[in-house]
Amino acid sequence: MQRSRWVVFVQTLTGIERMGKRMKILVTGGAGFIGSNYIMYMLKKYPDYKIVNLDKLTYAGNLDNLSDVEENINYTFVKGDIADATLVDDLIKDVDVVINFAAETHVDRSISDPADFIKTDVYGTYVLLEAAMRHEIDRFIQISTDEVYGDAGEEPSKEDAPLMPRSPYAASKAGADRLAFSFWATYKTPVVITRCSNNYGSNQYPEKMIPLFVTNALEDKPLPVYGNGKNTRDWIFVEDHCHAIDIILHSDGIEGEVFNIGSGIEKSIIEIAEMILNMLGKSDDLIEFVKDRPGHVIRHAVNTEKIRSVLGWQPLIDFKTGMESTIKWYKENVEWWRRIKSGDYLEYYKKMYENR
Ligand code: NAD
Ligand code: TYD
Repeated sequence: MQRSRWVVFVQTLTGIERMGKRMKILVTGGAGFIGSNYIMYMLKKYPDYKIVNLDKLTYAGNLDNLSDVEENINYTFVKGDIADATLVDDLIKDVDVVINFAAETHVDRSISDPADFIKTDVYGTYVLLEAAMRHEIDRFIQISTDEVYGDAGEEPSKEDAPLMPRSPYAASKAGADRLAFSFWATYKTPVVITRCSNNYGSNQYPEKMIPLFVTNALEDKPLPVYGNGKNTRDWIFVEDHCHAIDIILHSDGIEGEVFNIGSGIEKSIIEIAEMILNMLGKSDDLIEFVKDRPGHVIRHAVNTEKIRSVLGWQPLIDFKTGMESTIKWYKENVEWWRRIKSGDYLEYYKKMYENR
């Protein structure tokens, strides 16, 4: 990558905001973990922007995540599917920008039942892109993931690393990621693609490792560690991710580009399990080693030099602070996760963990 080329980008950051618009943004999947944090972040930071949240409210979608903004006149919720072309066309014709968070997101569910991942993550993204192209919107941000790279191996993955997804989830996201790029290459739809590492924070559904371990520990239940627990991930506090997307939204001259987003904080599963138990004053005896996940990626790690040097973004929250804040949130919002950890969730948990 030519650094001078990037300097030119930075210098020509006219920014969609500076085009004099009060942005109207379609956020998809805004009732989920990252989408809800992003909506809260944006409505607070830009009180005159309008946000429409299109969400199907799957098991992972939860309007409780947005109770603080439901009365906000600049916020509208629409229940629906991103694969519904008529609905999507109707919504996209009135917005400047689309940010596509909507997806089926859990690796383990994609292993046992991949169909919905292909329907939403690939086909749904196509439906959004097609409408975005026809209505000539200003910006389409595709929220991709570092899972598309597969195992990082020795060095953190750069944006031009080969895509070697190892789960149906990662493969569906890789399909959507490259489909989004193809709309830029072919039709000049102004797409930008982000590939972020593992997020943690408030509102995360307790099927993902950190909220599952925190809530299990709070209930004195075992923390199921896959395999030997030595697999590592780069962990980013969700607000740092929201901040990165905000900068990308307001930066011009980056169409067709991919940006990795990550904290550089790599931790193994076992390290995190021990940290959670320690922070909650619980015994390490709660750790239970269980059968490994098929295709389990040993290391996800991303090189973030591009977003740091081109857009000046950097993560602000260290891991200890982020984990303290996350644990505090789960301790203070017991009702939120107890409601989830009943009904269908119990079936899921049994299927996934019983006799494992
Ligand atoms: P999540 O599972 O918490 O939320 C997904 C949301 O999408 C839910 O509200 C769900 O109802 C909605 N949804 C699902 N299918 C839909 C459909 N067909 N139409 C409309 N809405 C639909 O997911 P998350 O962790 O918040 O992830 C958000 C995005 O960020 C995803 O695209 C994911 O791939 C990406 N991502 C997540 C992480 C992470 O660590 N969680 C890391 C990198 C990238
Ligand atoms: P997860 O939160 O599912 O995110 P991803 O697979 O997208 O990285 O898992 C994070 C890591 O934690 C991964 O290495 C698998 C591991 N893990 C466990 O050891 N036990 C669990 O119960 C879960 C859900 C995950």
